[in-house]
Amino acid sequence: MRTSLGPKGMDKMIQNQEGQVLISNDGATILKQMEVFHPTARMLVEISKSQDVEAGDGTTSVVVIAGALLSACSGLLDKGIHPTRIAECFRLAEDKAKDVLRNMSQKVDLKDEAKLIQAATTSLSSKVIYQNADLISPMAVRAVLKVANLEKHSVDLDDIKVVEKIGGVIEDSEIIDGMIFRRSSAGPKTIKNAKIGMIQFCLSAPKTDMENSVELNSYEQMDRIIKAERKYILKMCKKIKKSGCNVLLVQKSILRDATNDLSLHFLNKMKIMCITNVERDDIEFISKTIGCRPVAHVNSFTADKLGAADLVQEIGGEGQRKFVKVTGIKDMGPTLTVLLRGSNKLLLEESGRSFHDALCVVRSLVKEQYLITGGGAPEMEIALQLERWSKTLPGLEARCVQAYAEALEVIPSTLAENAGMMPLEIVTELRSRHAKGESNAGINVRKGLIEDISKHVLQPLLVNTSAIGLATECVCMILKIDDMVHVR
Ligand SMILES: Nc1ncnc2c1ncn2[C@@H]1O[C@H](COP(=O)(O)OP(=O)(O)OP(=O)(O)O)[C@@H](O)[C@H]1O
Ligand SMILES: [Mg+2]
Repeated sequence: MRTSLGPKGMDKMIQNQEGQVLISNDGATILKQMEVFHPTARMLVEISKSQDVEAGDGTTSVVVIAGALLSACSGLLDKGIHPTRIAECFRLAEDKAKDVLRNMSQKVDLKDEAKLIQAATTSLSSKVIYQNADLISPMAVRAVLKVANLEKHSVDLDDIKVVEKIGGVIEDSEIIDGMIFRRSSAGPKTIKNAKIGMIQFCLSAPKTDMENSVELNSYEQMDRIIKAERKYILKMCKKIKKSGCNVLLVQKSILRDATNDLSLHFLNKMKIMCITNVERDDIEFISKTIGCRPVAHVNSFTADKLGAADLVQEIGGEGQRKFVKVTGIKDMGPTLTVLLRGSNKLLLEESGRSFHDALCVVRSLVKEQYLITGGGAPEMEIALQLERWSKTLPGLEARCVQAYAEALEVIPSTLAENAGMMPLEIVTELRSRHAKGESNAGINVRKGLIEDISKHVLQPLLVNTSAIGLATECVCMILKIDDMVHVR
């Protein structure tokens, strides 16, 4: 994992057994895909996932820090220090480290968009879409601020739907003022003044509950069945038409076909656009956005359950993949759709993951309005302060805290190493600059030198505190294990 840390870190190409390939720089994604056998190694995968949930960014750092702490442990264990003592001291060191981070951080106002954009850009700086950060970061900030609940300091990222669409370039990505369905529609292609209804029942002939057969022995009987089916479906379609609905969303059904040729034919005649195969998971988002309520039976399909929009249109010409765009939604809910474009699947998927990182970073800032400098500055400052603090501690504690402090230097050293600089030189210089009181001195990997990085690289405090916390917790847990027992 170490080689993928930082803006100059490398990406991993992952191939699964089916031969599908994935390229990623995101720590959690890489680890999730890896086939990890040893249970302790699996714990490292877990902390990376937890970091992904908690902060969304810093998923590589957390594993790198945990690794460094583990090797520090092995040194301490060799000296004969009891593991529980080490764990206790590490816990103390963690608390102190978090204090140092908080003291270094600066408060950020959520109205100060430039700062938020800068933080989002930092999270993108190690990703392939960094060239387009000018476009993507402001998009992420705008998206999160639109759905955020600023009083409660909470953001539900489910309210932001990211639609990835192959074709075009990343520059064509945009925030959609409305909604997108990534499928083609049946019936008319453009509907103005749309009344949108959403159904969860099927527009096809009913099936018997059990395995069951009907025997026919004449044409009349066959005719009767066909007529009955026609009548049944027509009746449902008429009820839908009566409500004034002209765009119909049909939930995907696993029991039987949600729509069939006949119902699509009737709907087309009634000039109703039909979008089929709407996923169950999307229902909530759609009803929140458009304001239509899902209907489970045709008898309760009434006008008050419909949502309204100025225009529903199918987009995409011959040979392109089509999608349906809904714009001018009346009383649109606090949700948002972001359309990401990319020229190929690998790039597009990685853009999606990176965009998610950027969203998470802005979310972290809504949760906790503090920013901290990056580029190895916080880790170095912690190392220095802990070392000073350890001088006031009794012998054994001092040893453990010093080891903890030294382990954190892995971040600046790895950043330097990955950028092709001399890690030892850089870390030594960084340490002396911090000792002189320049707490914001960090590695500017783009210029290849050490400088006050607070103007260039800012990241949420939450990302760092959570990484330190999770890594320490995991290491302490591993320390307390003295044997592994296999059971059948
Ligand atoms: N321009 C920069 N100069 C120096 N350091 C930077 C710069 N941008 C980011 N960093 C540092 O790089 C580290 C983050 O690297 P990276 O984004 O690859 O990993 P991560 O955030 O831990 O994991 P992931 O993004 O995969 O979830 C942080 O320590 C951050 O401070
Ligand atoms: Mg990152």
